[in-house]
Amino acid sequence: MPSDADPPSSLPPYQGRTIALVGLMGAGKSTVGRRLAERLGREFFDSDAEIEKAAGLSIPDIFALHGEADFRRGEKQVIRRLLERPPHVLATGGGAFIDADTRALMRERAVTVWLNADLETLWRRVQKREDRPLLHRPDAKAHLTNLVTERQPYYAQADLTVHSKDGPHAQTVNAILKALQTWTPS
Ligand code: S3P
Repeated sequence: MPSDADPPSSLPPYQGRTIALVGLMGAGKSTVGRRLAERLGREFFDSDAEIEKAAGLSIPDIFALHGEADFRRGEKQVIRRLLERPPHVLATGGGAFIDADTRALMRERAVTVWLNADLETLWRRVQKREDRPLLHRPDAKAHLTNLVTERQPYYAQADLTVHSKDGPHAQTVNAILKALQTWTPS
């Protein structure tokens, strides 16, 4: 007879963990994350939105008034706090997984999913919004290209990688759900 202490055998292991989406600006973490949360009947959090709420300022204003280092400190605290919540879906800012402590904590507490998109897709998507201070520069595309190269080795440390293609978001959500079925705690 199974005991009450046994996890229900029919539930895949990811059910007990937060699903954290990582990847570059424009990868679709927030949009896809919100839809993924709906599909799973979970709460959705966005670390950027939580930082803005805590600071009472927009991300561009935090960068302008306090600088990137302050933003990164806030980001680290907010993600640590979010990871203490019951399993949910978490979209993280593009730089969050680059920090060694945050990365280790996310790998310990969450199932991490890299939403990987090609440069042209990222570039097309980031041009639709003005709220990314790292791209407020004349050589924004070259900078984004550098970020793709620099950050790839960190994002590649996520538990799962899913390609974020143009097309219906439901496609990406389905790809994540499929990948999650294969995940086992290491
Ligand atoms: C950043 C990505 C942004 C935001 C901030 C810095 C980054 O989030 O956290 O502008 O370092 O890549 P998104 O990835 O949600 O755009």
